[in-house]
Amino acid sequence: MLRFLTAGESHGPALVAILEGCPANLLLSEEEINRELERRQQGYGRGKRMKLEKDKVEITSGVRAGKTIGSPIALRITNRSTELFDKTITRLRPGHADLAGAVKYNQKDIRNILERASARETAVKVAVGAIAKKLLAEFRINVFSEVLQIGKAKNKTEWKKAIDRAAEEGNTLGGIFEITVTGAPVGLGSHVHWDRRLDGNLARAVMAIPAIKGVEIGLGFGVASLPGSKVHDEIFYSPGKGYYRATNNAGGLEGGMTNGEPIIIRAAMKPIATLKKPLKSVDLVSKKVCEALVERSDVCAVEPAAVIGEAVAALEIANALLEKFGGDAVEDLKASYKYYLSRLA
Ligand SMILES: Cc1cc2nc3c(=O)[nH]c(=O)nc-3n(C[C@H](O)[C@H](O)[C@H](O)COP(=O)(O)O)c2cc1C
Repeated sequence: MLRFLTAGESHGPALVAILEGCPANLLLSEEEINRELERRQQGYGRGKRMKLEKDKVEITSGVRAGKTIGSPIALRITNRSTELFDKTITRLRPGHADLAGAVKYNQKDIRNILERASARETAVKVAVGAIAKKLLAEFRINVFSEVLQIGKAKNKTEWKKAIDRAAEEGNTLGGIFEITVTGAPVGLGSHVHWDRRLDGNLARAVMAIPAIKGVEIGLGFGVASLPGSKVHDEIFYSPGKGYYRATNNAGGLEGGMTNGEPIIIRAAMKPIATLKKPLKSVDLVSKKVCEALVERSDVCAVEPAAVIGEAVAALEIANALLEKFGGDAVEDLKASYKYYLSRLA
C-alpha cells in the first residue's frame, strides 16, 4: 500500500513528504520529478511567485544509485520565497480557509492558517505523484490531463483573452480540466467495500485539491438526464481484443473497478479566491468591516490544477495496482501482473 504525508508551510523553509510502500528497484531520478514540478509551475494567469520560485526536489532517502530500495522515500523542496512568513495578517479572505481555520485553531494571526492551507503544498504532492506515475509507466499505464474550459470560454483561443480581461478587472477565473488514465487493466479497485471502490478514492483525491468544487467520472452529471439506453456502454468481445466497448460513458469504472477502458475524470475549479479588487470582509481581531487581504496571487490556476489532478489520480491508481498485485520489488509486481494478464487472455 502506498501512503504519504506532507509537511511544510507556503513561505516556510521547505516542503517535505514521505512516501511509504513504493516497491524496490524502480529507477528514479530527481530530474524526472523536477519535470513534473516544472509543469505545475506553468500556465497562463499565474502570479509572480511562480516566476520567483523554480521548484527543485531533493530525494533524501529511499533511493540509492538511482533506484528505490523499498524504504520510505523522503522528498524536500526548498521554498525560495519566504519573506512573507513573519508578516501578521488579520483581514479575513472570503473563499479561503482563513475564517474557519482561525476559529477552529484559536488563532489571532491568519498567517498560521493560510500558510498551510495554501496550494503551495501541492508542489510536494506533485513530486510524490511523479513517483506513482513512474511506477505506473512500468506497466504502460499513463496519466495525462487537458484543460477544457476557462471561465465560460470553451475554446482555447479565447482563454488568454478571458484571463487578461479578468486580471484587468481585478477579478479571477476558474474552469474545468480532464484527467485521462490509459492502459489500466480491468479489475483495479473493488466492489466489495466502500473504501476499496476506486471511483470513490479517485473522486476524494481530486476533490481534496484546493479550489476543486466538482468531480465527475465519465458522463458524470450528464447521466442524470439521459435514459439508460444512452448511458450504459454495451459489451462486445473479439478473440483479438477481448472484451471491449464502443462507448465509454462509464469513464472506465464500473462497480468501483476499472473495466479496461480509459479512466476519465473531470474536475471543476472555482475562481481564485484572492481578488485584486478585494471583496468585503471583517478583521479577525477588531471585528470591523474591511477589505479582504490581497497577497501576491494567481488570476487563474486551472492548468497547474490539472497537473496536480494527474498526480493525485496516479497515486490512487498506483495504490490500487499495488493492492491487486502486491510485491516488495518491481520484479515481483511485474510477475504477478503478467500472470494476471495471461489469465485474462
Ligand atoms: C494550483 C493552485 C494554485 C492556487 N493559487 C491560488 C492563489 O494564488 N491565490 C488564491 O487565493 N488561491 C489560490 N488557490 C486556491 C486556494 O488554495 C483555495 O481556494 C483555498 O485554499 C480554499 O480552499 P477551497 O477552495 O478548497 O475551499 C490555488 C489553488 C490551486 C490548486
